[in-house]
Amino acid sequence: MDHEEVSSTQAMVLRERRKSLMLRLWIATGICFMALPGTLLGFSNLMAIASHHGLSGLPAAWIQGHGHAQVFGWVGSFILGIGFYSQPAKGRSVVRLPLVCYLLWTAGVGLRWVASIYGWHWRALFPVSAGAELVAVLLFLLAASRHKRPEERAAAGEDGPQTKRQRSPMPVWMVAVLLGTAGLLAMVGFNFVECLHLAYVGASRAFPAGLDQRYLVMMAWGFMTPMVWGFSARWLPAFLAIPQPDMNLMSFALWMDVLGVLCGLAGWTLLATVILATGAVSIGFALHLFEIPHGEAKVVGIHPSFPAFVRVAFLWLSVASLLGIWAAAADQHGGIWGASRHALTVGFVATMIFTIGPRILPHFSGFYNIYSKRLMFYSLLALQTGCLLRVSSEPLAYEGIFSFAWKVLPVSGMLELSGVLLFALNLVLTVVLGRPSFAPTPGSSSVLPAQNQQGSLRGSPVAAERAQSC
Ligand code: HEM
Repeated sequence: MDHEEVSSTQAMVLRERRKSLMLRLWIATGICFMALPGTLLGFSNLMAIASHHGLSGLPAAWIQGHGHAQVFGWVGSFILGIGFYSQPAKGRSVVRLPLVCYLLWTAGVGLRWVASIYGWHWRALFPVSAGAELVAVLLFLLAASRHKRPEERAAAGEDGPQTKRQRSPMPVWMVAVLLGTAGLLAMVGFNFVECLHLAYVGASRAFPAGLDQRYLVMMAWGFMTPMVWGFSARWLPAFLAIPQPDMNLMSFALWMDVLGVLCGLAGWTLLATVILATGAVSIGFALHLFEIPHGEAKVVGIHPSFPAFVRVAFLWLSVASLLGIWAAAADQHGGIWGASRHALTVGFVATMIFTIGPRILPHFSGFYNIYSKRLMFYSLLALQTGCLLRVSSEPLAYEGIFSFAWKVLPVSGMLELSGVLLFALNLVLTVVLGRPSFAPTPGSSSVLPAQNQQGSLRGSPVAAERAQSC
């Protein structure tokens, strides 16, 4: 390999390394929001609800503060971090734009937490934090809009006239991710407008109940659900050895999702839940999740229970949607809505992140594997057991059907908290004690993948994974 090739490879590896470091920052921040204002606050809210036998004694701002920290602070930080990591970037844009976006986003989520929980200068902090989050998402979209698919570059003849060819249709997984991104933009826009409104004329620092219900539909089904569907359609065929998604059925599920969200926003709640349930049940079939795989699942470096937990997560999605129909028809005290929301946020979204995260996050962040397969399994087991107890006991307790269920709720919270902390610990141990896939090249301040220090990226887990996933 001549000198020019070596230095261009080194520059490429350096870029990859910077992107990995930036991703680590997003993930570390997401974990802090998940563990502290997210789960610990959720847990203490649950203890308060269980001891008062109802939601009425708890300030709505605390419940909403917990939801914001989980959805924006944890899920949002992970999505933005992975989104930036997946975008090809040149020169200083590798770090500068993601760093500005990161600072705005983190400051926005952090300020919202302080304002929601402590009420400190909330009239000023609500619009400032929501504005920072909105600008961060707009910057992310700006960066993403510069990135063209290889087919689009070829169609535009940017890779040379000989490569000019017909534009191919966008893969369905990408459509789902774009829908989720549109949901993210709508969610931060909605949040900004309502925070401004509260700051000027609001009597308290919480969204009114009816409006919050619509906002939750957008968060859950407009942002998180299509995003997870998209990444599942992209990664699961390779990871689980199942066929590529059924395009027509997945498009149908996405249409149902969009329609359901629109009906939810319009206030046609029962209709919305029926449509969303149709989409939620269809997606499992569209992804062929319950068919016999054509090969072995790829579980090298992760716990072999991985395929089972992925399938359980999609079962939770159906449970969440069916509980939604029950809630729309019969909920009196928030117990059925709470169970439905929890089945979706913890049973589906958090389980998918706890399952796929250990498979991809170490590689993307520059490590070979997750630190401990056993910790991965125990975190999922604790989360699942807690979620099962919570979802089954919440309607019984809140709706006054069976009072013993109040005693089960704290146990469910403790199990979920343990699951979350084990997941966080595993990622922290991966960064502190894990084997990095980048190592310094002899006689150079630059870095190359540890496995392959001769200047070629081929064979490095980072390169392999990126080639497979981005
Ligand atoms: C893991 C442990 C968790 C615990 C103990 C917990 C606890 C709670 C509690 C007690 C509530 C109040 C309403 C109700 O009783 O249902 C709530 C609401 C909520 N939770 Fe969680 N939660 C957890 C995880 C999550 C996760 C992972 C997410 C999102 C990814 C999430 C998102 C939400 C949202 C959006 C709300 C509604 C907020 C609102 O009304 O605006 N939670 N949670």
